[in-house]
Amino acid sequence: MSTTHSGQVALVTGGAAGIGRTTAVQFAARGIKVVVSDVDAEGGEATAALIRGAGGEACFVRCDVTRESEVAALMAAVLARYGRLDYAFNNAGIEIEQGRLAEGSESEFDAIIGVNVKGVWLCMKHQLPVMLAQGGGAIVNTASVAGLMAAPKMSIYCASKHAVLGLTKSAAIEYAKKKIRINAICPGVIDTDMFRRAHEADPKKGEFAAAMHPLGRIGKAEEVASAVLYLCSDAAAFITGVALPVDGGATA
Ligand SMILES: NC(=O)c1ccc[n+]([C@@H]2O[C@H](COP(=O)([O-])OP(=O)(O)OC[C@H]3O[C@@H](n4cnc5c(N)ncnc54)[C@H](O)[C@@H]3O)[C@@H](O)[C@H]2O)c1
Repeated sequence: MSTTHSGQVALVTGGAAGIGRTTAVQFAARGIKVVVSDVDAEGGEATAALIRGAGGEACFVRCDVTRESEVAALMAAVLARYGRLDYAFNNAGIEIEQGRLAEGSESEFDAIIGVNVKGVWLCMKHQLPVMLAQGGGAIVNTASVAGLMAAPKMSIYCASKHAVLGLTKSAAIEYAKKKIRINAICPGVIDTDMFRRAHEADPKKGEFAAAMHPLGRIGKAEEVASAVLYLCSDAAAFITGVALPVDGGATA
């Protein structure tokens, strides 16, 4: 983003909670208009209200990123409301712990790949023509450290996040000369509902999660949001096609 943000527009999917909500708030705090999107209308409306309550500009548009018609309608709504799209944070994702590979089900596979891979692909597919028409933009996709290394008992999730990096890097090369930068973030374990849902049943997993990061703790949504805003900013003008770990040193 440039130093003056007046008129700039960001879209955040998975904006009803966690990393998405915090990033939406950080975009808005820099004067950027934000379209918050999610399947969770209550949470998404709450994020938009939070932004407006702090003096920012935001609206909520419900969208299931696994459905092309809904993603197309989301982009139409962005253009109808604000007329442009400068930054897209494709962050909606789900995590299901499915046990060892042979214990996973077809429905789990379809659900995880549907949101995490098809969702990111569909979002970029419908965002890129808008950015091409206006002469540039920046996209950040949410992968994970599970996109960079193994994730035992979460092989489908791991495969989905590796796929996000494949989509990100390929698109980054394809659109580099069109002034559209496309990067991914790879968070370690971050303190959000996703983490709490996965670990509330077993407190030992919380200790393990802290220990896997050399910095000695799990991460905060604010720390991931800062990395997203950096990748969207002019400070990252020569950065495209990267998978940026935000992981307290876990992948080092
Ligand atoms: N929390 C972590 O430890 C962690 C670590 C690495 C990567 N991530 C990734 O970060 C992203 C955000 O996760 P979070 O921790 O904030 O989780 P979260 O569960 O708090 O938020 C995810 C959001 O995505 C939305 N969503 C789910 N399916 C959707 C769909 N089909 N269409 C639109 N929205 C949908 C949910 O309603 C939810 O609001 C995810 O892609 C996740 O895989 C999280």
